[in-house]
Formats: sequence, C-alpha cells, structure tokens
Amino acid sequence: MLGLSMDIGIDLGTANTRVYVKGKGVIFSEPSVVAVDGETRKVLAVGGEARRMIGRTPGSISAIRPMRDGVIADYEITQAMLRHFINRACGRKVLIRPRVIICIPSRVTGVHRRAVLEAASQSGARQTYLVEEPMAAAIGAGLDIWEPSGHMVVDVGGGTTDIAVISLGGIVVADSCAIGGDKFDEAIIRYVRREHNLLIGERTAEDIKIRIGSAYPVSSTEPAETAEMRGRDFVTGLPKVMNLSSWEAYEALFEPVSEIINSVKGVLERTPPELAADIVDRGIVCTGGGALLNGFVKRLSEELGIPVHIAEDPMSCVIIGTSKLFGSPEFLKNSLVAGSIPV
Ligand SMILES: Nc1ncnc2c1ncn2[C@@H]1O[C@H](COP(=O)(O)OP(=O)(O)OP(=O)(O)O)[C@@H](O)[C@H]1O
Ligand SMILES: [Mg+2]
Repeated sequence: MLGLSMDIGIDLGTANTRVYVKGKGVIFSEPSVVAVDGETRKVLAVGGEARRMIGRTPGSISAIRPMRDGVIADYEITQAMLRHFINRACGRKVLIRPRVIICIPSRVTGVHRRAVLEAASQSGARQTYLVEEPMAAAIGAGLDIWEPSGHMVVDVGGGTTDIAVISLGGIVVADSCAIGGDKFDEAIIRYVRREHNLLIGERTAEDIKIRIGSAYPVSSTEPAETAEMRGRDFVTGLPKVMNLSSWEAYEALFEPVSEIINSVKGVLERTPPELAADIVDRGIVCTGGGALLNGFVKRLSEELGIPVHIAEDPMSCVIIGTSKLFGSPEFLKNSLVAGSIPV
C-alpha cells in the first residue's frame, strides 16, 4: 500500500494555519477563521474567504477566530476548521488515510488536545502526532537542537509568545505568555479610542501595526511616518478618517512589547548557567509573524544585552520544523498520541 500513503503536517496557529504535504511542500496558508451561520452553526467559509468577512457580516453570519490567545476558544469550530483543511490537503484521494503531525501552541492542553486529535481522526488520519510549537519553530529555524548545547527560541505568534531553551532535543526551560500580534492590535485599538475618540476595527489596527508600528523608539529627529485610519467617531457616531504617527504607534505598543521582553528575561533567569553561556555566544533566534514588528529584534537585543537574530521566513519556521519531523523516527516513536492502525 506504499503508493497510497500520505504525510500531512499542520501548523495550527491562532492567526494562520499552514499545511504541508510530503512530496509537495507547503500547499497552503490560510487565516484561522471560520464563517458560520449564527442559527444553524453551519460552516459557510473557512480561511481567507472567512477572514474577509470579519467585522463586515450581517447579523445572521459570524466570522469566528476559534483560537484566541493561543488556546482553543471554540472547540467545535476549531474541529470543523481542521477537518476542512485536512480534507483539502487530501484532495479527492478519499481512500488514503494520512499520517498527520499537528503543531499546536503550547498553551493548548488536556481536553483541547483531545479535540484536535479527534478532528484529525474524523478526517481519516491513520496516525496523529502532536508537537509543541517552540520545538517545531527551533527545528524550522535551522537550529541543531540535538546537540548538547543551549539554543533559545522566541516565537511571537498571533496569540502567544512561546519562549524555550532547548538542548539535546528536549525543552529545558520554557514559558508561554498570552501576548502576540493580536494583543499588539488590541493595544492600538485602545490607544486610538483613548487619544483620538476613534473606534477602529481589528483589521485596520493590524494594518497600521504592520505599516508604522514599532517596538523601538522612533527617532525624534526624523519626521514621523503616518498612516491613515478609517473608523467611527466615538462622540458623533459618524465615519471619520484620521492619521496616526509612528511615534504614537510606538507608544501604544510599548506595554505589550515590554511584557514579552520580561517573559524572555524570566526564562533566561531560570536557565542553567552553562546553557545561558551558549545562548550569550550564539544569540537568541526569533520566529513567528509578531517578530516582524519593526524594531522588535533591536529592542529585545538591547534590553537583554544579547545578540538576537530573526529566522529566515519567520512565519514558515513552524510548518517547516513540523514537516521535518516525518524524517525523525525518534520523534515518531515517542510522540504517537492517537490512532494506532499499523502501516
Ligand atoms: N510585518 C509585520 N509586522 C508586524 N506584525 C506582523 C507582520 N507580519 C505579520 N505580523 C503579525 O504576525 C501575526 C501572525 O503570526 P503567525 O502566523 O506566526 O501566528 P500564529 O502561528 O498563527 O499564532 P500562534 O503561534 O500564537 O498560534 C499576526 O498578528 C500578524 O499581524
Ligand atoms: Mg505559530
């Protein structure tokens, strides 16, 4: 039955889900969003199509992000989303029962892990393995995690920041804080409402963050960049267009960025000295879309006094790392968690 086997890797992220098929590579990346009919709970759209509906749906339809803050907020919708993505990866080859490795944020625990596994087996998975995000991120960033030496990876995703020190293929010290790109967006929304009496949506805030957001103090000698934002005036209730400066965006993002830095400091403080010395030599590696925030790497490096590098293609590290695990018999042997139908 060799010809009928199929290996699928999935990075089930709070903001984006990426899917890999062995032999084909990463076949798609879609926002982790599902549009459902409010009454019947019927799934109407998944991924990019559903995301375009966020904040724009009529009363009867809602566009849901079933994972929030790196945990599963709505497990039925998460299951429906996962089934949709696995079926899409399998195409029409309904007879094939794939092996599936799913990478989940490390805050997903207990019953929610089980919900993920259940959805995979409902979609026909023959065997399912779960891998934790910092491990996959480290492998995908090209770190040699198997050597007896300390590596530190900081994955700033949409929902969480996962921080881990890895040596000899295992996580030695780790922490996960519920701050990531989503909290950056929320901080911008709050700031704009407080300072400008303007209500803006999630997607507008994300757009501003990517265009002019900064984690590093913007130079006062250069003219500040500005971004136009459209929203609703809090006082008059009418639509309004305003500008936000990069300096203001820096101010808005100061707190959530500082929280991430404090969590990284906390992990370093708990790291055994030999491994800490390795990290000082090599530097910290950042992955995840949130690490693309302007000035993030620079601020982290300055505050810690340690070099910090950003991985190549940081948003793909987790799916690349996940897919590499199909080539690791050690991993497959130790982490089979569901489905045991022999090959
Ligand atoms: N250039 C950029 N500047 C700032 N933020 C960015 C940039 N590009 C993407 N992002 C942010 O990265 C986040 C998505 O990153 P990623 O796809 O790694 O998250 P995820 O894996 O879905 O989440 P998690 O790992 O927490 O479950 C979003 O919040 C997005 O706004
Ligand atoms: Mg992620």
